[in-house]
Amino acid sequence: MEHIIILDHPLIQHKISMLRDKRTGTNEFRSLIGEIAMLMGYEALRDLPMEDVEIETPIETCMTPMLSGKKLAVVPILRAGLGMVNGILSLVPSAKVGHIGLYRDEVTHEPHEYFCKLPSPIEQRTIVVTDPMLATGGSAVAAIDFIKKHGGRNIKFMCIIAAPEGLERLSAAHPDIQIYIGHLDRCLNANAYICPGLGDAGDRIFGTK
Ligand code: PRP
Ligand code: URA
Repeated sequence: MEHIIILDHPLIQHKISMLRDKRTGTNEFRSLIGEIAMLMGYEALRDLPMEDVEIETPIETCMTPMLSGKKLAVVPILRAGLGMVNGILSLVPSAKVGHIGLYRDEVTHEPHEYFCKLPSPIEQRTIVVTDPMLATGGSAVAAIDFIKKHGGRNIKFMCIIAAPEGLERLSAAHPDIQIYIGHLDRCLNANAYICPGLGDAGDRIFGTK
């Protein structure tokens, strides 16, 4: 489906393999998440709107393209999505940043909301929602429900690893968004963790357990 894009660039795949390794420590894990987000952002933002503006070079005046309009909002799903924000801000430093706080119940695996704040107004912006992991899809669906309820329309969801189950759920609930994936893994296990996955992304980014 054309709204699902797997970014199978060799640099992204190499870095995802390093993330998966259980010997990769917090510092390196955090750096890799940021680097992958930057590489994914480079691809995912290739359709940002442009407009020609007049610029005076040392030689002459010319019309030349620059990003137009209200530009970008990056909205991480807390906590793990935070790790991807700086990678995208390094590409578009003027982007606004919102936050959606969700945690998964350990038993039901359903998301629980604890904090949400979006840049206002949000309607005109391209919104990039970040979360390294798309597992059951519950968190991503809830985050995008929230953004749409507040007027967001042009939404891109960016995850580093997805499970087929979560991708199907997100794509069915929000067929109008673009979904960017670093790698589509095999399946979920009985605890709704992605296999082979990389474990708990939030714990590995922040060094918690
Ligand atoms: C993880 C991950 C996603 C969610 C994915 O967050 O970062 O937000 O689980 O699972 P789902 O697709 O089944 O909803 P978690 O709830 O563990 O919170 P954390 O980022 O604070 O660790
Ligand atoms: N959240 C994670 O951090 N990892 C998984 O595999 C599933 C949900």
